Parts: sequence; structure tokens; C-alpha cells
Amino acid sequence: MMVLNDHDRAVVLAVVASAGVVAMAVSVLLGRRLVAANRTLVEAVRADRFQPPAARLPAELAELSRELEAAYDRLAASHEREQALEASRRELVAWVSHDLRTPLAGLRAMAEALEDEVVADEHTVQRYHGRIRVEVERLTEMVDDLFELSRIHAGALRLSRERVGLADLVAEAVAGTEALARAKGVRLRGDVREGLPVQVDAGELGRALRNLVVNAIRHTPGDGAVEIIGEVADGEARVTVADACGGIPEDDLARVFDVAFRGEAARTPGGGAGLGLAIARGIVEAHAGRIGVANEGPGCRFEVRLPLTAG
Ligand SMILES: Nc1ncnc2c1ncn2[C@@H]1O[C@H](COP(=O)(O)OP(=O)(O)OP(=O)(O)O)[C@@H](O)[C@H]1O
Ligand SMILES: [Mg+2]
Repeated sequence: MMVLNDHDRAVVLAVVASAGVVAMAVSVLLGRRLVAANRTLVEAVRADRFQPPAARLPAELAELSRELEAAYDRLAASHEREQALEASRRELVAWVSHDLRTPLAGLRAMAEALEDEVVADEHTVQRYHGRIRVEVERLTEMVDDLFELSRIHAGALRLSRERVGLADLVAEAVAGTEALARAKGVRLRGDVREGLPVQVDAGELGRALRNLVVNAIRHTPGDGAVEIIGEVADGEARVTVADACGGIPEDDLARVFDVAFRGEAARTPGGGAGLGLAIARGIVEAHAGRIGVANEGPGCRFEVRLPLTAG
């Protein structure tokens, strides 16, 4: 058994005591630093816009600060998206109520004129009937589009997917818009370079493609051409709709898919409601696909990409 003499004991006690004092001093110092850093971080969090503190933080708090910064960025981005969506919803309600009110006022005036027999000659009566039918068709389409859009936004779009050939989709889009092209003197051509099958809701996707082709025909001058091509590119099915619209203004390119967006030229009485492309995007994205647009050649080129059916 080891026995310490008095001197050794005194030395051990002195060493232990001074080690204790040093440890206490160090822990107080570290504790103070940690408390100060913590306070700085709390103040930064309380600030209106979180900025990571300029002072150097201990490693653990620095990591927390980085995570907080990333979380705030995500929060700000989603807030911005929310605000943009809310603004576009408000605009949509304003535009749609205007778009519905104007033709309704026209319909009412025509119906009253017919009822009161203000118009009596056969030719005018027939013309009024014709215009009433056209306006009612347009309003029905608009209400139908609004319903589709609200289903897309509510996530209530139920896709009944089936195996469909790319060629059938393109042929369907051409068949559905041929009459419109012919009436406008626009040459319409569909071409499928490689017709692999895709697993899609043919009705919904057909509607999206039709919206693209109708736009292309509407914006192409009488002697121009619209071409729909189906092909396989980079392991995906790709359908492109190219027209001769003269190009979309660069500033508008990113906005054409927004709800209720209409180019200046399209904001004329009888023009569209600005819903077609928002619907097309909603449908394509519900199929895990992507949609985009670029100016190219004499016009613009809309592109839809869809995953190919495995096997
Ligand atoms: N092929 C195209 N060529 C040139 N501009 C286009 C083309 N397609 C769309 N645009 C522009 O994008 C806008 C939005 O198109 P979108 O299809 O969403 O609405 P719309 O055609 O005006 O109305 P709706 O489709 O509801 O009848 C159009 O008003 C037009 O300015
Ligand atoms: Mg349209």
C-alpha cells in the first residue's frame, strides 16, 4: 500500500485544487461564449428576415444556424409561391367575371331584342340565333375549362391510365383540330418518328395536346404551317407542336403557362380566357411529365415530355 508523506499530500492537493480552478475557469469561459453565441442566434431568429450572425459561432450552433438559414429560405420561397398563386387567383376571378359578364350582356341584349321583336327581318333574326349559339358554346367551354382547372388545383384529377401509342395521340390531336386549321387556311401536319407506347389518360392528355395545337393554329397566319411531331428523345416520349406565330415576346415566355395569362394581342373580345396552357401544364405534370416552350424558326415550339412505358 502506498503511503504519502505530508509533503506529497500537499503537492497532490495543490495540483488537484489548481486543476479544479482551471477547469472551472475554462468551463465558465466556454459557458459564457456559448450563452453569448446562443443569444446572438436567438436574436437573429427573432429578426424579421433571418440573417446568419456575422460573429463566429461554436461548431454545433454554426450548423444549427446553417439549417435555420436553409429552412428560412424554403419558407420564403413557399411564401412567395403562395402569394403569386393568390394574386393569379384574384386576377383570374376578376378576368373571368369580366369574360363571363361581357358575353352574357350581349346574349341578354340579343334575347331581349328577339323577344320584343325589335329585330324582325329574317336575316337579322337568323344572325342573332347564330351568335347566341356561338356565345353559349364559348361560355360552356370556358366554364368547362374552369372546372378542369379547379380539379387540377385541388389535386382531384383522377387519371385512368391506359397503354396508348404515341402515334394515336398525335393522330387524335390532328383529327380534333383539322377543321379549325382548314377554316383558317393553316397547313396542319402530324408526324410520328418512333411510336412507342405511353401509359397515359388518353382523354386528359388529348385535351392538353389539343390546347397546344389550337393555340398554334390561332397564332399562325393564314399561309403558315403547324407541325406536331411525336418521337422518342433521351429515353422519354416527346411531342412537339411547332407553329409560325412569329415568336412569343421573351418576357412572356415564362408566363404563358400561368393561369389567366394572355398576351396583349389575345386580350380582345372573343379571345380566350388564358386557361388552355395552365390546363395543359396541369395535365402533363399529373402524368409526371414536363412541358416547355421556346421560340424557334418562324414561330414557337411547345414541347411535352412523358415517361415511356416500361417493358
Ligand atoms: N402557339 C402560340 N403562339 C403564340 N402565342 C401563344 C401560343 N400559345 C399561347 N400563346 C400565348 O399564351 C397565352 C396563353 O395561352 P392559353 O392557351 O393559356 O390562353 P388563351 O389561348 O389566350 O385562352 P384559352 O386557351 O383559355 O382559350 C395566349 O393568350 C398567347 O398570348
Ligand atoms: Mg389557348
